Amino acid sequence: MNNSIQMDQLTLGVCYYPEHWPEELWEDDFRRMRDMNISVIRMAEFSWAMLEPVEGTFEFQFFNKVMDLAHKYGIKVILGTPTATPPAWLTHKYPEVLNANAEGVLYRHGMRRHYNYSSPKYRELCTRIVTNMVQAYKDHPALIGWQIDNELNCEINVFYAEADHIAFREWLKERYGSLDSLNKAWGTVFWSQTYSDWEQVFLTRPTTADSPNPHLALDEKRFISANAISFAKVQSDIIRAFAPRHWITHNGTFGHLDSHELTDKHLDFFSYDSYPQFSTISPSTEDHPLLDRAWSMNLSNTRSISPNFCVMEQQSGPGGWVNRIDMGTPRPGQIRLWSYQSVLHGTDLLVYFRWRTATFGTEMYWHGINDYHNQPNRRVREVAQVGEEFSKVGSLIAGTVYQAEIAIMQDYDNTWDGELDKWHGPLQWQSVRSWYKQLQYKHIPADLITLRAENLLEDLLKYKVIVYPHAAIMTDETAALLTEYVEAGGKLILGARTGYKDPNGHCYMRPFPGPVAELCGITIEDFTLIKGIIAPAELSWKGKGVLSPGTAAVGFNEVISVVSKDVEVMAEYASEYYSGKPALTRRAVGQGEVWYYGAAFNEPVVDAVIEEIQLKSPVDEWLTAPAEVEAGIRALNGASYLFLLNYSNKPAQLEFKKTAADLLTGDRLEGTFDMPPYGVLIIDTSAVG
Ligand code: GLA
Repeated sequence: MNNSIQMDQLTLGVCYYPEHWPEELWEDDFRRMRDMNISVIRMAEFSWAMLEPVEGTFEFQFFNKVMDLAHKYGIKVILGTPTATPPAWLTHKYPEVLNANAEGVLYRHGMRRHYNYSSPKYRELCTRIVTNMVQAYKDHPALIGWQIDNELNCEINVFYAEADHIAFREWLKERYGSLDSLNKAWGTVFWSQTYSDWEQVFLTRPTTADSPNPHLALDEKRFISANAISFAKVQSDIIRAFAPRHWITHNGTFGHLDSHELTDKHLDFFSYDSYPQFSTISPSTEDHPLLDRAWSMNLSNTRSISPNFCVMEQQSGPGGWVNRIDMGTPRPGQIRLWSYQSVLHGTDLLVYFRWRTATFGTEMYWHGINDYHNQPNRRVREVAQVGEEFSKVGSLIAGTVYQAEIAIMQDYDNTWDGELDKWHGPLQWQSVRSWYKQLQYKHIPADLITLRAENLLEDLLKYKVIVYPHAAIMTDETAALLTEYVEAGGKLILGARTGYKDPNGHCYMRPFPGPVAELCGITIEDFTLIKGIIAPAELSWKGKGVLSPGTAAVGFNEVISVVSKDVEVMAEYASEYYSGKPALTRRAVGQGEVWYYGAAFNEPVVDAVIEEIQLKSPVDEWLTAPAEVEAGIRALNGASYLFLLNYSNKPAQLEFKKTAADLLTGDRLEGTFDMPPYGVLIIDTSAVG
């Protein structure tokens, strides 16, 4: 089943909170949803205090009534388990369920996600509410699936309650078997950190200089992820046992959680909450051109978990919390644009957040489709347009999948290790962002994939090119897989700091780039972090391509020493004491080739490499589009749909060299065509002629 949602057509849904509104509104709400082609609601994910108002006393009537009414209107229901918001009676009576900060101060009632995953009491109470809830609703004809909890690790993704320290010790005993091997793995001989009793072991606690043992810090993140997954398992086991015909999902993605593993083990598919405007709250100038379009990268990541997925929350108005999130309104057309952004990247079930803006509470400025006054507005009209379009094209698009020949690859260990480790962590974002952005601007569809222990050669061979920019932690097994990939014809592109650490995060006693030095045919003879007064060296391009003059090698400069005769130097440093030394190399191996760059990628270097390896857009031959338009293709079994999305507030001029048609409007597209601001086109590429 490849972890995908199974939909026959693109379907619209909406998050609905009947508990926020007088009952008299419900029926009118459902009637209007149907008018807008909204046929699914998600609800109840924060309703524990209603479902179990007093410990051990359950009341399921309220949501039963809502579901009956929804059913009358042909509306299907997704229920969220309510464990993200424990009631006041619960945390008051059992404070051990609360999460704590690193100093051990408890997070108290009044927000959400203030509990920990480790407390046996919390797991017991969650088991009871979820079991009762599933048994109460499992036979309701409107119910189609379950969302476990809500956004695991959102708001906070570190846990330091007493129960967490205890659970961490148990997890470590399982992983290492003995204190002796734990001491080795964490290098505790350094600074006399050696543990002589398990009771001395804790998750990171306040330290001088705020500098925890780095190997402990990495294990802490692995533990948090494993713990969140085992917390989710408790719930998915209950749902599987009592409601086997319903699907199970969870909405993410957040830090310190291996969402791939969570999905593989305990879900039917993954869901994502898409709020593109987050990227516009405090844009840095370098991000400016990408902005809401940067969200496509998050959607690409989601697609690597579930090729077809659900967006459980799609932004449908300006987002706002009373005290910390403040956004301008989406411009006319933007909600529709963002909806199709989600669809392009693999969404088949699109659920808006939320039906109507709350009139009270922390999120009373998080605007939904309807305003407080509940009168028609432009957001309602825009969503209704999407609803109408889905009914027109939805059965064609559903089940098709995004097509990409190039992947940017990452992995959880390096992402987590890089949070603390300033010597490689920041390089990752610099390179991934530059690659994703330049590929986007050139209309070359790209995947963002995660390398995992279970990956096989065939998973990598789906791609002609893989950019795996800064895998500091790398094993010989991974290097062997990458070597096979290159030998079989893949083009592999690596960057600075590759392969100098083992899985514990210790530095190898071998020349950089460690396990892939042989594959690349190089070693690193000297290196420097680029920071402050240590300026980046300039580059001089030696290949056929062109590099913008003055381009610097950013982030880190490794001076490459060529070992194999067949290594081609593609760029040299052109300043600093290592001027004239290799900065970028390429080596043909088997049917493929491997590139090694001694720095982090910036836009001009990405452009030059793309030119060198002759990556092209799949629509280059018949369509010219400006950079502000995103282009991507969803296809399956011969059917193929090109999406064009204009993120700009100005018209975008397209040049068609062949004749095409827009599926949404039926418009004929030939010669010059002006896409309106925030416009969307979907083209059946088999009908282009
Ligand atoms: C998240 C949550 C929702 C809501 C929105 C808006 O995605 O899942 O409950 O809080 O953000 O803040």
